[in-house]
Amino acid sequence: MKWIASVSLGTFLLACGAVLYSQGGAVEHGKEVYAMQKCSFCHSTDGGDKESLAGVGARLKPEEIRKWVQAPKTMKSDTRMKAYPNLPAKDLDGLVAYLGTLK
Ligand code: HEC
Repeated sequence: MKWIASVSLGTFLLACGAVLYSQGGAVEHGKEVYAMQKCSFCHSTDGGDKESLAGVGARLKPEEIRKWVQAPKTMKSDTRMKAYPNLPAKDLDGLVAYLGTLK
């Protein structure tokens, strides 16, 4: 009966690994999207004199970050931020995951 326990433990560990990998992957992808879309043209992620996104993961919910990127005017009607309504879902998910790590 021991083998059953070790098989299910093995499956469990594999599943955990897959979840961790996919989360890390989304964050990494988000960093690339951030660079590619030139968010850094207006933003910094570590203070500095640009519009700072430091701590944004603690300040905003993932849903709010998503709205800021897709439709910033729904978050602040007179914002200067550019809207990104046509980002592929994967890129948007990545950005939200990445910005969520800035606590
Ligand atoms: C043209 C300049 C510009 C670009 C490009 C830009 N932003 Fe912004 N963004 C702003 C400004 C300015 C604000 C602050 C809101 C305001 O006062 O208008 C802001 C606000 C935000 C916020 C909310 C921050 C908070 O603390 O509430 C998030 C999240 C954000 N931007 C993410 C992004 C991401 C991700 C990108 C790239 C896909 C991006 N921005 C590209 C100008 C820009």
